[in-house]
Amino acid sequence: MERMYDNDEIFFGSKGTAVPSRKTFLGSLSAGLVPVTLWLHESVGDNHIGRDEVKSILSSNSQVFDSPKPTTLIGSILQIATDKDSIILDSFAGSGTTAHAVLKQNAEDGGNRKFILVEMEPHIARDITAERVRRVAGGYTNAKGEQVEGLGGGFQYCRLSKEPLFDATGAVREDVTFAQLSEFVWFAETGTGFTGKAKSPLLGVHEGVAVYLLYNGILKDRTVDGGNVLTAPVLALLPPHAGPKVIYAAANRLGAPRLQRERIVFKQTPYALDC
Ligand SMILES: C[S@@+](CC[C@H](N)C(=O)[O-])C[C@H]1O[C@@H](n2cnc3c(N)ncnc32)[C@H](O)[C@@H]1O
Repeated sequence: MERMYDNDEIFFGSKGTAVPSRKTFLGSLSAGLVPVTLWLHESVGDNHIGRDEVKSILSSNSQVFDSPKPTTLIGSILQIATDKDSIILDSFAGSGTTAHAVLKQNAEDGGNRKFILVEMEPHIARDITAERVRRVAGGYTNAKGEQVEGLGGGFQYCRLSKEPLFDATGAVREDVTFAQLSEFVWFAETGTGFTGKAKSPLLGVHEGVAVYLLYNGILKDRTVDGGNVLTAPVLALLPPHAGPKVIYAAANRLGAPRLQRERIVFKQTPYALDC
């Protein structure tokens, strides 16, 4: 307080008797403008505009929300509160206005902001939130039949499992299925959603690297620990891949030269899944 007083950062009104208020100097503001505290609908929009935006993009699904925010409102918040590389979290995503506003802001100022949206209602998440963001990012035909160019950008759609995969000690819970762990391993390894069938220890090939998971007797319990351990006989049973391989298993009995020859990176479950 004393330092602020010495630096002439406190204002006591023109007569010097007013309640003290803090001075903000233009030079110390990165955006160059002091935000005003009153936001009128002329400048940031209102719920009617928000509703029209959703209607125009999704038409058939547009009645689900009574009062979606307009992108201009969220955009004003982004201009004040974010940098070009900020990560913006909206844990009540609804109609997806936040992601729309983030993509708009990035398109306007060349930013690389990212968003994380959370929506608990599956049909809203899939048919409204994700669909709106998909359309505004990639382009769409609006309710009037006009073509609207995409803003660019994209997103990854993830679902939470009903129960956690790991127990309090970090071990994979006993009731976790091969399919559930496959989704997790694939996402941890590739950063993309799993679209495979989870019927084989070879989960898929991503950018030339084959991803395998040995878990829960996927090999019909032929070897050590129900086929969850990487041994030479287990390796012989795996669907082949000529390129590099990542193999998740409970343990590894192959030596380093063999792993190198076979271009295998071994990752031990559950420790390697500590994402
Ligand atoms: C009022 S809407 C948000 C509207 C959004 N801000 C917009 O302008 O488009 C609130 C949303 O949050 C979701 N929701 C409520 N509780 C939640 C929770 N605990 N976790 C995730 N989503 C939740 C609801 O399903 C609803 O879709």
